[in-house]
Amino acid sequence: MITENYDVIVIGGGAIGLATAYHLGKKNAKTLVLEQFTFLNQSGSSAGVSRQFRIPYPDEYMVKMALEAIPYWDELQKETDVQLLDKVGTLWFGDPEVRSTEGNIADAEKSLKALGIPYSTLTSKEIEEQFHFRNLPDNYTGLFQPGGASINFKATIETLLNLCQKDDTIQLEENSPVLKITPKGKLFEITTPHGTYITKKLAIIPGPYINSVINLLDFKIEATYWNMASAYFRKTDPNIQYPTWFVFQNRIEQNGNQFYGFPSVDWDHPEYIRVAPDFVITPLEEPNDRTFIPNPQELQYTSDWINDHMTGLNTQPEYTSTCLIALSTIQDKELLIDFAPPYVPNHKNIVVYATGWAAKFTPFLGKIMSDLVLDGKTDFDISPFKLGHKYFLAL
Ligand code: BEZ
Repeated sequence: MITENYDVIVIGGGAIGLATAYHLGKKNAKTLVLEQFTFLNQSGSSAGVSRQFRIPYPDEYMVKMALEAIPYWDELQKETDVQLLDKVGTLWFGDPEVRSTEGNIADAEKSLKALGIPYSTLTSKEIEEQFHFRNLPDNYTGLFQPGGASINFKATIETLLNLCQKDDTIQLEENSPVLKITPKGKLFEITTPHGTYITKKLAIIPGPYINSVINLLDFKIEATYWNMASAYFRKTDPNIQYPTWFVFQNRIEQNGNQFYGFPSVDWDHPEYIRVAPDFVITPLEEPNDRTFIPNPQELQYTSDWINDHMTGLNTQPEYTSTCLIALSTIQDKELLIDFAPPYVPNHKNIVVYATGWAAKFTPFLGKIMSDLVLDGKTDFDISPFKLGHKYFLAL
């Protein structure tokens, strides 16, 4: 049995766990990252290759968060020769009345305007002429924001992992699910199948596996789990290019009818365009219920949408992937960043990040989590996400 003493143990070695460890290393905190599977695994929210970076959000604080994330992306970019963000812009379009988990076009415009962020508005015809979509209803509107990007998420995680591996203050342990968390005075004892570790502080960032960890501390979050499908469609026109985009439309029975897509990039099936449904027909009760097989009906709706509204692509996918995400019942605020609830011993020494779509904030969330866990505070305003009092439930 190993017994070691750490300043911080990070539970969860996905993108945000590694980003947190990287920032802890910069502050010389002796850090251990415990990953239940292997690093770079495809079983959690860090699966897949690309993500969208975007600035439009219906809430101003989210727009500010996206802007504040940029210098942290720039900093991480200096650590690798691989381009992490491919800045092709964000196109949001569709029915202006529709509200989704991603927001609403008119509200996002208001926030961008209020903060003086450049964007252009588009009619349905202009979207077709400038971006290769077709047969869009006349009432559709759009906004194009040039700061959006396709994130090379795989390279982002690899870069963070390399940085952590090179840092002597950080120890990385894979195949190490946490079995027990025992408060011991001002410290915590953490048990995995490989050993027992002592730490002053805990950063809990296990993605969709959040409840399996916080249950050990006698609380939980109500969440459903989306096994999100994604697919790659071969370009029939080799010169066609799309920005990162999202279409807002009303659901039609079980077809959630919201889709999003990416440009073709040389780091992810270069001859293909990735398009994905932003809905699941059947949310899961438990993360362990997931399969790695995309739902064929969701893929069919995606193919149908491409057939009706996109140009220059085959309509049947040739590659597919899935990604598992935990979504809470928090209205429009899927991110939860907070200390453990007061009934947990040493609760101020336990910081939790859970639920929502946060890949675009990866290096910035690492900074925030490292500040919170080491110093108990951060310079960034996290009040919109400090929702534990409402969403952490005692077991
Ligand atoms: C996002 O930008 O948050 C997002 C885009 C597409 C699907 C899910 C989330």
